[in-house]
Amino acid sequence: MPIKFPFTKNKKHTSSQPLGLDFNHLPEHVAIIMDGNGRWAKNRGMPRIAGHKEGMSVVKKVVRHASDIGVKVLTLYAFSTENWKRPKNEVDFLMKLPVDFLNTYLPELIEKNVQVQTIGDFGVLPQHTQKAVNEAIERTKDNDGLILNFALNYGSRFEMVNAVKQIALRVNQGELNPEEINEDLFSSELYTKDLIEPDLLIRTSGEQRLSNFLLWQLAYAEFWFTEVYWPDFDEGLFEKALYDYQNRKRRYGGV
Ligand code: IPE
Ligand code: IPE
Ligand code: MG
Repeated sequence: MPIKFPFTKNKKHTSSQPLGLDFNHLPEHVAIIMDGNGRWAKNRGMPRIAGHKEGMSVVKKVVRHASDIGVKVLTLYAFSTENWKRPKNEVDFLMKLPVDFLNTYLPELIEKNVQVQTIGDFGVLPQHTQKAVNEAIERTKDNDGLILNFALNYGSRFEMVNAVKQIALRVNQGELNPEEINEDLFSSELYTKDLIEPDLLIRTSGEQRLSNFLLWQLAYAEFWFTEVYWPDFDEGLFEKALYDYQNRKRRYGGV
């Protein structure tokens, strides 16, 4: 019998087997590798970009739900530093997506008190992408609800190499003693410096790898994988991931 999951703590649900999600102990920071758009489309005889378009409506659903139940930070891997290798028409489409997304969805984000942020090498994105995202950042900067953090042109190795360069520069200028370099200092040079570390990483589409996502930050996160392609992901699966997370035992190397 398929199990249905309660979608929000207030909403009535019809399931005879509620998940028992504890809304007082949610992971504070959930990171998602939204994968499988292309295969979803291919299975339907559609072009890959149709999968990305469908994936965008899932982003809306998941953001809305994360905000409703009280997740603090949601980091979504939208475009990696390696995704430039894709055909130009696909890259162009992916760079248009934030524009379309924010055009239709920014008012709701504002209403929901969501704060938009980004991580990644932002300055090299096309002007129209930067403009739309900057407007969203600006217009939501005083919100203190869910932090919706888009990883755009993000690569963890690039991020860490840059951190090393910054630190080396400070040593070179005599501002910093190599003895003072520690984990906190290194973290403070990453894009994520103002965010708590992810508690839970979700990856859709059956792939079980990080693909250069938050290599440092995920050191002690719980990983949750599903075979489901991103366009078929929904609130119920999101809650299932949170539920499974709550039934894990995090030990951080202790006993
Ligand atoms: C994830 O879906 C979206 C992005 C990487 C932007 P893919 O486009 O990687 O879909 P698959 O993995 O080829 O099916
Ligand atoms: C990771 O997915 C990047 C995003 C979801 C944005 P990819 O589809 O690019 O990763 P690989 O190529 O399967 O490792
Ligand atoms: Mg993929």
